[in-house]
Amino acid sequence: MTIAPENRPLLMVNTHARGKRSAVTCRLKCNDACLHPAPNESANEYFKDVVSSVLSRRAVLGTLAVAAGAVVIGAQGVGAPSADAVTLPEGRFPGHAGRGLAFGAIDPQPVDVDALVVPEGYTWDPIIRWGDPILPGARTFDPDNQTPEQQAKQFGYNCDYLDILPFDAGAYTRGTRGLLVSNHEYTNAAVMFPPTAKYWETDAAGNVTTKKNAYARAIERAAHGMAVVEVRRPAPGKPWSYQRISPVNRRIDMDTEFVIDGPAAGSDLLKTTADPTGTRVLGTMNNCAGGTTPWGTVLSGEENFNGYFVRAGANPTADARYGIAATTSYGWEADDPRFGGGAGYENEANRFGWIVELDPHDPSAPPVKHTAMGRFKHEGANVTLSRRGHAVAYMGDDQAFDYVYKFVSSRRVAPGYSQWARAHNKTLLSEGDLYVAKFTGDSPAAEIDGSGAVPSDGAFDGSGEWLPLVVGGASKVAGMSVEEVLVYTRLAADKVGATKMDRPEDVEISPVTGRIYVACTNNSGRTPTNTVEGPTEPNPRNRKVVGGATVNGNRDGHVVEIIPSGDQTSTRFTWNLLLVAGDPAVEGTYFSGYPRERVSPISCPDNLAFDAEGNLWISTDGQPSSSSIAKCDGLFKVPVVGPERGHVQQFLSVPAGAETCGPIIDSRDGMVYVNVQHPGEDGTYAAPQSFFPDYVADGATPEAGDFRGPRPTVVQVYRTR
Ligand code: FEO
Ligand code: CA
Ligand code: CA
Repeated sequence: MTIAPENRPLLMVNTHARGKRSAVTCRLKCNDACLHPAPNESANEYFKDVVSSVLSRRAVLGTLAVAAGAVVIGAQGVGAPSADAVTLPEGRFPGHAGRGLAFGAIDPQPVDVDALVVPEGYTWDPIIRWGDPILPGARTFDPDNQTPEQQAKQFGYNCDYLDILPFDAGAYTRGTRGLLVSNHEYTNAAVMFPPTAKYWETDAAGNVTTKKNAYARAIERAAHGMAVVEVRRPAPGKPWSYQRISPVNRRIDMDTEFVIDGPAAGSDLLKTTADPTGTRVLGTMNNCAGGTTPWGTVLSGEENFNGYFVRAGANPTADARYGIAATTSYGWEADDPRFGGGAGYENEANRFGWIVELDPHDPSAPPVKHTAMGRFKHEGANVTLSRRGHAVAYMGDDQAFDYVYKFVSSRRVAPGYSQWARAHNKTLLSEGDLYVAKFTGDSPAAEIDGSGAVPSDGAFDGSGEWLPLVVGGASKVAGMSVEEVLVYTRLAADKVGATKMDRPEDVEISPVTGRIYVACTNNSGRTPTNTVEGPTEPNPRNRKVVGGATVNGNRDGHVVEIIPSGDQTSTRFTWNLLLVAGDPAVEGTYFSGYPRERVSPISCPDNLAFDAEGNLWISTDGQPSSSSIAKCDGLFKVPVVGPERGHVQQFLSVPAGAETCGPIIDSRDGMVYVNVQHPGEDGTYAAPQSFFPDYVADGATPEAGDFRGPRPTVVQVYRTR
């Protein structure tokens, strides 16, 4: 369904959003990060100065007891098989060399198409939507009468990370019974709440204003967090239904108690009046992407947490570096002093910005925040295993000019899914070494001119190293303790000279090759007038020319490929750019040499996933770039090896205003899953800009339980023939 322009309300003031991404999304999701100066003002070595001077999360599920051309690990390390041996596939994931899911690329959809478009031969259904009841006592969604208590028992808002795990820990396939796990990143009050005094403050004349009241804010807090929901289907390849009643269904919200663990747990930097131990914290927020571990837990990244806290002022340097400001867009400080930065709560913001681990198989297990993995604006974390069984996590800090990180566990994975093994494996992310990436290019600086033109050696490429921050339990950063490195990780990474990247989002590991892929979504601040940081070989664009006009910044993003020099624990690597994204008709795009006229236009790569055959799938946030490809966001497949490397093909397109999140590609079942986040973002409850996914038409009388406006939704795509 397309909403005619004359039926749309005026957009809110849009002074800074680039391309299609709306000003509303910018304000709510990332606190207008692109409106503020990039907080990384560190005097890191400029990149130009530098120049002149095995397993993905899904593919490894169930492999803790698989042997096929595998390295065998016994209790004493690599050696003869033993009763408690761990066997890990070496180099290639066994059994998958096919072409993967077959489909014909769809056409990019204009930005006002309010439809989820899939290839011929496929169809789609919702699995679960914002407001669907999942816990006892939850009633059928009634958006006219939403309450905090109901929201806490319903599926939350703005689903982002997604996985569907086998119901039985250790099972290899999802079978017919699964655990759907989703993040709920942020809320949009204008779309969620009716324009009544129940949810909005009134002025002196009794008129409803656009300032949400305490009741609405309480609902917002209940709509954040995560959800676990049981799903069932008649057979693999058939659509799932969620189970409204199940003992495993669970909501995590701002009232859920978390354990803080790792080297910074109990630090003075994490203590508050409410938690003098520095080891317990209520809630998680702005949970963006994530990852599923080989031992069957789910990781979630606390991303733009800064937008929820009034700065306390105790550490102005850290406040500035993390973007914690004098005001918030959420206004929760009016309800709870911990958001206000006042006396006793100076450290509350330090208790957010972590990687969270949730065990969906154990509804009673408290979720954990892992300080060993550092504190920054975590997009997510994806874990693979080294040949000797160490857990290796790759992580992006999603901000312009921020960094890519790696964590290597001290302990090694335990085989199988026994109670003991599961308990042991859930400690792996509690202790280990933390590194940040430094990329060095191999082409002359003069050849990286900001246009995106490929240098004369034929590639954006070079070498790199993982710079140590914490190794062996000791700080490797001069003047900073371990606790300081982990709580103020950005400041530590600045000191060691990490490479400033163009908003590193998801970082995913190929199940076939063990290579690592980093989605750099865009950077509006890397421009020709930026005198601090210019184009670099791993971030080579600062402008593009469209129709004779110059558009400053890296508007379309790119994807970095990292090749470990040896095992995943190696501190050395080589790298190259897989894609320099954008309208292939515009100069300065690059698709690993694949003919540009044959690729789908793609912009702003965000979440990444692999299919079992080793094809990379990219979901986008902000797709469009230039007027020549102002299109809805989507999901794209791109092979990364062989003659098809770089052949980007669009699989689906999400509805008006939405972003594509959390892709899962299950080529064995012929199914694809995505989270459709923030459909109709610029609309309001009274004047929706999307009717996805239920399409109760404007002017029609909704039946009980129907909602005129959009609902963030988990979608399954499956074959019709
Ligand atoms: Fe929440 Fe980095 O996207
Ligand atoms: Ca080069
Ligand atoms: Ca994201």
